Amino acid sequence: MPSTVPPQPVAHTPPATPPNTVPHPQPGPNAADSAKTNPNPPAALATHTPKGPDWWLMMRAFLTQGKKIASFAPSSRFMARKILDGINWATAGSIVELGAGTGPITAEMVKLASPKTRLVVIELDPVLCGRLRERFRGSPNVEVILGDATKFGELLAERGIPKVDHVLSGLPLPSFPAEARDSILATAARTLGAGGTFRQLTVMPLVYYKLYRRYFEAVRFRFVPFNLPPGGVYVCRGFRSAVNP
Ligand SMILES: C[S@@+](CC[C@H](N)C(=O)[O-])C[C@H]1O[C@@H](n2cnc3c(N)ncnc32)[C@H](O)[C@@H]1O
Repeated sequence: MPSTVPPQPVAHTPPATPPNTVPHPQPGPNAADSAKTNPNPPAALATHTPKGPDWWLMMRAFLTQGKKIASFAPSSRFMARKILDGINWATAGSIVELGAGTGPITAEMVKLASPKTRLVVIELDPVLCGRLRERFRGSPNVEVILGDATKFGELLAERGIPKVDHVLSGLPLPSFPAEARDSILATAARTLGAGGTFRQLTVMPLVYYKLYRRYFEAVRFRFVPFNLPPGGVYVCRGFRSAVNP
């Protein structure tokens, strides 16, 4: 049976000890372990564990939230592999994933990444975030944050991460207000190291190519037929000066 617990409110600007985030567990025990040992665990650890398969959680989120979710099914593993294709795992220090849903991309990253690569995963929906926490609690290099991707610069800074190697986005960016989209991409420009990429999923192949070209010097589109629905990935480099911070 699907969970009937309603979504919890989300604090978008967390205080010094964010109430809705799990402290980064690397290199010590993971979040689940710290819940056993910490007499006053963060409220986030008390979030419920959603029931039902991933496809159901995504479908329900899509039916209740529509444009905020944008896709009725989790990405396929073909999509996940395509967004990660070409990442140098030997040198990647930190990667941030925005809008992780139930975690199909995260799961592939966990398989490929060295345990030293820090994977910061941000998801706004508390139910989907619950699934992410449950799924990756055994992966000490993954930190799942219940939070707003428009604040990802602050969320990284709070964790002492000034730079990341890649930004992966499953966010429905085209339907974001222009200001929020600009802010996310400007933050990506600020936080990406040299040679870093901004990688964006889509289930509307090539439709938003021009949109991403407005922000980036170089945009390549990788088509992914084996996805429900078929989609692809924009791999973007070189922010145009208009959005450079
Ligand atoms: C199209 S789904 C992609 C999910 C997953 N990455 C996948 O490939 O299956 C978009 C996800 O972005 C999340 N999202 C939307 N707005 C967000 C925001 N402002 N901050 C963080 N996550 C957000 C939604 O809750 C949803 O899980």
